[in-house]
Amino acid sequence: MRDKIVVITGANSGIGKAASLKFASEGYRVVMACRNLEISKTVQQEIMHRTNNPNVDLMELDVASFDSIRDFCSAFKAAYPRLDILIHNAAYLNHGEKEYKLSPEHIEISFATNAFGPFLMTRLLADHLAKSQDPRILHACTTNIKHFFDPKRKIDFDNLRGEYRESRRHNVYKMYGDSKMALLMLNFKLAEELKSQGIKVNALQINRVKLSKETIRKMRSIWKVLAWAQNLTNPLPSGMADNYFHICTSDEYKEVTGQLINHKREIVQLASSEKGIHQLKNIFGSGTYPNYATDAYNIEKIWGMSIALTEG
Ligand SMILES: NC(=O)c1ccc[n+]([C@@H]2O[C@H](COP(=O)([O-])OP(=O)(O)OC[C@H]3O[C@@H](n4cnc5c(N)ncnc54)[C@H](OP(=O)(O)O)[C@@H]3O)[C@@H](O)[C@H]2O)c1
Repeated sequence: MRDKIVVITGANSGIGKAASLKFASEGYRVVMACRNLEISKTVQQEIMHRTNNPNVDLMELDVASFDSIRDFCSAFKAAYPRLDILIHNAAYLNHGEKEYKLSPEHIEISFATNAFGPFLMTRLLADHLAKSQDPRILHACTTNIKHFFDPKRKIDFDNLRGEYRESRRHNVYKMYGDSKMALLMLNFKLAEELKSQGIKVNALQINRVKLSKETIRKMRSIWKVLAWAQNLTNPLPSGMADNYFHICTSDEYKEVTGQLINHKREIVQLASSEKGIHQLKNIFGSGTYPNYATDAYNIEKIWGMSIALTEG
C-alpha cells in the first residue's frame, strides 16, 4: 500500500488520530490535515514511531476557513500526484457553548466546519481523486442527526450567517446535529455528482466513542465531569477508526456510494414510517435515518447555499 495516499482532517486527536495510526500501520501514505501544527507535530512523530512508517506527513488546514482550505488544496495538489482516500473527520462541537460564533467567512461555525468546509474541500480535490484507481470519500456523521425526538425540527436556514445571533436562543447541540444533517444531505448529492468520475462517497453514523483528553480539557467544568463519566463506558476510538479503514479500503464497499453506514457496518435505511412503534425503533435503533434527509427542498437548499457560499 506504499503508494496509496489518504488525507485525514483533524488527525491529531480522537478518531482522526486512531485512523491515522491504522492507515499508517497498514502502510498507507497518510497526510494529517490539522489546524494546530505545533501540537500535531508531536502526534505525527508518535504515529511514525509506533507504526515504523516514515510516510506520515503533516499539512496545515483549518476546515472552518475557506482561504485555508484553498491554500491546503493547492499545496496538496502541487506535492502529491493524486488522492486515493479523503476522510472528513474534523468537526466543531464546543460542549456547553452558549455563544453563536461565526467563521472567518461569516458563516455559523458548526456549519462552516462540518458542512460547507468539507463540501469546498471535496470539490477542490475531486480532480485529484479522479486520478486514483479506487477513489473514496468518507464523511464522519453522527446519531445526533436524528430528528425523531422532535419531528418538527428543521435547519434554521435563515440563521446560518448570524442573522438572528443576538435575538434567537443558540443551542450548540442543535446546530451541531443540523450541520451534520446538512453534511449527510451533501453526502447524498455529492455521491450523485461524482459518480461519473468513479468517486465513491459515503458517511459513517458514529454513535459514541471515548473523547480524547485534549477535547475534554477544552470543555467547561460541568461538561468535563459528564464527559469523564461517559468515557467510563464509551468504546475506544480505535474501533471507529477500523470502520473508517474498512469502508475506505475493503472490497465490500468498493462499489457502495451515496450511503450512510452505521457503527456495525450496516447500511442505514430511510425510515419507512415515523409513527407509532416504528418511531420507537427509529429512536432507539441505529438502522434508520429521518425522512428530512431526503426532502428535495432541504437538499436543494443546502446544495444551493454550499455553491453560493463557496463560489461567491
Ligand atoms: N466521539 C464521539 O462520540 C462522536 C460521536 C459522533 C460523531 N463523532 C464525530 O467523529 C469525528 C471525530 O470526533 P472525535 O470524537 O474524534 O473528536 P475530537 O477528538 O474532538 O477531534 C476532533 C478533531 O477535529 C479537529 N478540528 C476541529 N475543528 C477543526 C478545524 N476548524 N480545522 C481543522 N481541524 C479541526 C480537532 O483539532 P484541534 O485539536 O485543533 O481542536 C481535532 O483534531 C467528528 O466528526 C465528530 O463529529 C464523534
